[in-house]
Amino acid sequence: MSSETLILFGATGDLAKKKLFSAIAALHHEGKSFPIIGVGRKPLTDESFRVHVREQLPGISEDEWKKMEPFFHYSIIPENTPHDLSALAQKIVEVESLFSTNKTRVFYLALPPDLFEPAAIALGENSLIQKGNPLHRIVFEKPFGRDEASARTLQERLQSFMDENQLFRVDHFLGKETLSLLAELRREKHLSPEMWSKHHIDHVQVHFVETIGIGSRGMFYDANGVIRDVVQNHVLLMLEGVALQSHLNDHAVFSAHERARLLEHVVPLHPNEAVLGQFEGYAKDAGIEGKHSHTPTFLAAKTEIRLPEWEGVPVYLRAGKEMNEEHSSAVIQFKKNKESSSTPLPGRMIIRFSPDSQVQLDYAHGLTQLYSAPKRSAYTRILEHALTGNASFFLGINEILSAWKIVEPLLKSETSFVYAKGTPGPLSAEKLIQKDGRTWFSTKKNEN
Ligand code: BG6
Repeated sequence: MSSETLILFGATGDLAKKKLFSAIAALHHEGKSFPIIGVGRKPLTDESFRVHVREQLPGISEDEWKKMEPFFHYSIIPENTPHDLSALAQKIVEVESLFSTNKTRVFYLALPPDLFEPAAIALGENSLIQKGNPLHRIVFEKPFGRDEASARTLQERLQSFMDENQLFRVDHFLGKETLSLLAELRREKHLSPEMWSKHHIDHVQVHFVETIGIGSRGMFYDANGVIRDVVQNHVLLMLEGVALQSHLNDHAVFSAHERARLLEHVVPLHPNEAVLGQFEGYAKDAGIEGKHSHTPTFLAAKTEIRLPEWEGVPVYLRAGKEMNEEHSSAVIQFKKNKESSSTPLPGRMIIRFSPDSQVQLDYAHGLTQLYSAPKRSAYTRILEHALTGNASFFLGINEILSAWKIVEPLLKSETSFVYAKGTPGPLSAEKLIQKDGRTWFSTKKNEN
């Protein structure tokens, strides 16, 4: 039995339902069981919380559930006294003694971002987290802050109650197996160092395109939009995943310091080289009919990395909801004239992060070579690393501040383009890349 207790804030929310319960179940299935205390405002008991969790795990057999069920507990935070965590404190002590855990407490804030600060401060003020105790950790979902200034302020406030090594900031794309797959392919020499050389690369594209819309997350989405939801974090992380491969160290991508150093050299997105769009019918889907919202659901932009190893290689970013295809990928397009290369290079390399982890090499003569990673969800890995205290899979504060600096010039830009659902986005996004004589990579086309 494991020695950690997971205290899950937002236990009846969307993220717990969609990703975290199945990650918890996967870890239990792997023999890594640990007690969970769900925390929320809904008036549930241990029993009714277990019924709720069970409903979210239809794929788990009854036998398996019976083994897992006793690990789930619940503590309510009363609506009118959200700062009083005495009931939770008592519950933690009970659960720790029931499971003889060693007092490692992982507080996971699967909450709307505006609740990160009050929740973390309440944990500090109620002494549930002791500053300087590395066994007490707090996990923040993204986005951390709304811009650079607010991320700095949040960090400063947290530091009165906890040390940096107690703060675990999630970007679940760090838990995607693609990054480990790349490191392994490099180690085993399946990917030649020349593949990361600016002399052979024409340009890089990063895509975060989804057919899904905003579902039941209208409130969250309208306050955040595509930039804060996925560009400031997942999209830049995929770019880091590619760009850091030119580094000598296979594992540079798992160092927050190296990632921050790279981001400092990514040129901030400029409104003249960016297109922001919103899909038709957005206000209705977001539940804000009648209100005029500028929240973008689509972004396309061009940038570059001002480091000697990436000099002259354009980088194109594209992200959106309600589009015509669904994948998160980084694509390296190689130059056509590759005589100087000692080994034949493919026409392009497609590094897929979602829906599965794959690296695909497309050769000019039609041959495609594929490498895939075994499927373990990103959240299973993230949760495991939070429980064992492996900080390399979490974001550093400097990395977050640099990421905000990159997107900041667009945060106040007007969303001027509307696109129909099920399309590749606004026409202006096509023009943005076509003016350079290039086209967006698409899974819908064989050739670009
Ligand atoms: C989340 C975003 O972080 O990532 C969602 O908030 C997005 O808008 C999701 O749909 C995609 O993650 P994955 O792992 O399913 O590709």
